[in-house]
Amino acid sequence: MKEIAIEELKIGVCLSKDIFNDLGNIILAQGTEIQFRHIEYFQNHGITHVYIADERGMINKTDGTQISASPKYQELNTNYEKVLDKFKQLYYNIQNKDYELSLPELESHVKPLVDAVISDNDILGSMRMLNNQESYHFTHAVNVSMFGSMLGKWLGLNVNNIYLVAMTGLLHDIGKTQIPQELLFKKEELTFSEMETVRNHAKLGYDLLKDNPEIPREVLAGILFHHERSDGSGYPSGLREELTPYLSRIIAVVDVFDAITSDRFYKKGISSFKAFNVIKDESFKGLDPKISDVFMSNIASYFINNKVKLNDGRIGEVIYVNKYALNRPLIKIDDTFIDLSTDYSLDIVEVY
Ligand SMILES: [Fe+2]
Repeated sequence: MKEIAIEELKIGVCLSKDIFNDLGNIILAQGTEIQFRHIEYFQNHGITHVYIADERGMINKTDGTQISASPKYQELNTNYEKVLDKFKQLYYNIQNKDYELSLPELESHVKPLVDAVISDNDILGSMRMLNNQESYHFTHAVNVSMFGSMLGKWLGLNVNNIYLVAMTGLLHDIGKTQIPQELLFKKEELTFSEMETVRNHAKLGYDLLKDNPEIPREVLAGILFHHERSDGSGYPSGLREELTPYLSRIIAVVDVFDAITSDRFYKKGISSFKAFNVIKDESFKGLDPKISDVFMSNIASYFINNKVKLNDGRIGEVIYVNKYALNRPLIKIDDTFIDLSTDYSLDIVEVY
């Protein structure tokens, strides 16, 4: 899909992303064929850009150029979008209270995506190019499912347990269907009581699914405890690490990673290297360091040979990632090497 200015919008093209109002309600759904009255509505309501379908098989890069997509990427993208659509449908149906979750049906959509993650050691390269413009609200669930599966593989889990991680990742925030949606889209800082309401999503998700005999106990526990922290500072129960299920601890790491690296409507996501700093700090406070270390060192190794931009504007290439300083790799710029693990005046601000 591509973003287009309202002035360039033509009658008859299809929206490839829902349009929400300030309260988080859909005002025009994905797939709607644009009519003249829609353009008038956008202009009257200050909507300046919308997303429409673009040429298939092309990837829009951050610098505005397009490159051809590999068949592997196209397949991943197709499976990703299928799971995303299914999850969105599920989310709205649960919100409207007219739907009983069928786990086998959901699993049948998720498995091709997880199988690609399990079987392809180089999948992260394609994953990083996925640039779906759908709301973070929905992409986060699919991303946590994918990153969780990948981390499960790196931790040596068997296939069945990886599927459990994937399902938990997809459903971990399903309790958010049960809280006022405007809180999820609020731009201003939440009040204490609003924060308490949002935090209740873990318990509400558990309550929503606990009587469904198809949902494995591991998935239920993962949903309930994905915000617990090993120092007891998490919620809903303030469990310490040894009492928090392993699967919840896996989800906690990838949940934080995707939350801070994804673009939101109110802020841009941070680069993966900056995210390593945050995860490292969080690991002192409560993420399981044995799990977060495995995640970060595997992710970091994918960035070797990657172009990065430094805070002084120079562009270089990642040459080596030191496992004791994952966030500060060795960079090559022309014939000069810069070791960020010793030179703290420089920082990576963008990863290409
Ligand atoms: Fe959550």
